[in-house]
Amino acid sequence: MSDQTLPVSSAGATPVCRRLVGRTAVITGAGSGIGLAATRRLASEGANVVCADIDAAAGKAAAEAVGGTFVQVDVTDSDQVAALFETAYDTYGSVDIAFNNAGISPADDDSILTTGLDAWKRVQEVNLTSVYLCCKHVLPYMQRQRRGSIINTASFVAVLGAATSQISYTASKGGVLSMSRELGVQFAREGIRVNALCPGPVNTPLLKELFAKDPERAARRLVHVPVGRFAEPEEIAAAVAFLASDDSSFVNAAEFLVDGGIAGAYVTPV
Ligand SMILES: NC(=O)c1ccc[n+]([C@@H]2O[C@H](COP(=O)([O-])OP(=O)(O)OC[C@H]3O[C@@H](n4cnc5c(N)ncnc54)[C@H](O)[C@@H]3O)[C@@H](O)[C@H]2O)c1
Repeated sequence: MSDQTLPVSSAGATPVCRRLVGRTAVITGAGSGIGLAATRRLASEGANVVCADIDAAAGKAAAEAVGGTFVQVDVTDSDQVAALFETAYDTYGSVDIAFNNAGISPADDDSILTTGLDAWKRVQEVNLTSVYLCCKHVLPYMQRQRRGSIINTASFVAVLGAATSQISYTASKGGVLSMSRELGVQFAREGIRVNALCPGPVNTPLLKELFAKDPERAARRLVHVPVGRFAEPEEIAAAVAFLASDDSSFVNAAEFLVDGGIAGAYVTPV
């Protein structure tokens, strides 16, 4: 095939691939941002999607938009997480993809000097304990199938320090990265791949609102991004679809950076 005849898929455009037909994907934090974009992308590639979110209205809307199933879940609750994967299996007969993505980044998680223990613990619970619970409860299904792709959302801050600290968030994402690597190694010979997705800053409503109020804050960050802009959620969702599909069959235990080159940069173009 010449380059001219290769199908081209770009963010926001209708994907040309149908790599996930017959697969069942569970997505946490499916109601917004990266999770919502991934819901649309995985469904468009043929997957049955189970949308999990603590926000019932947003999660339901996401599921309805793609003909999927909504399950209201607080990802910090072990019983609710177990019930989520049980529902996916009972509804569709397999659990092939787990996109463990729900996370928070609250304002009271800041410099270590001002961040209290309550804020620290809340962020650890939602961002890190949740990933432990999702992996723990989905792995037995994947072991029985001898197949599965687990994608845990970490962040570029798992590999880079930031002077604009969110101390518990950063520590939680480091934990997600290390845990994913270890699980990817432990379960590789059972046909299960586990990867840590490390997005750079993404244009989600939260980020847009924050930076609209404070353009200096946006500029402080943008200067470090070689491509000169933040990612769109659809660009992260495209990476999720790749990691979920057999196209990534030899990608395992990876620190999968989708960061526009931030982690590779010293001096960026002006
Ligand atoms: N936006 C970015 O710039 C960026 C960059 C790197 C990594 N990430 C990570 O990507 C993931 C998604 O981020 P986003 O920007 O799309 O966020 P978002 O706020 O747009 O969406 C997060 C979703 O998770 C849900 N959620 C929150 N707490 C929950 C809980 N306890 N149980 C179940 N659901 C819960 C929310 O209701 C929401 O729908 C997070 O893990 C985040 O840390 C985001």
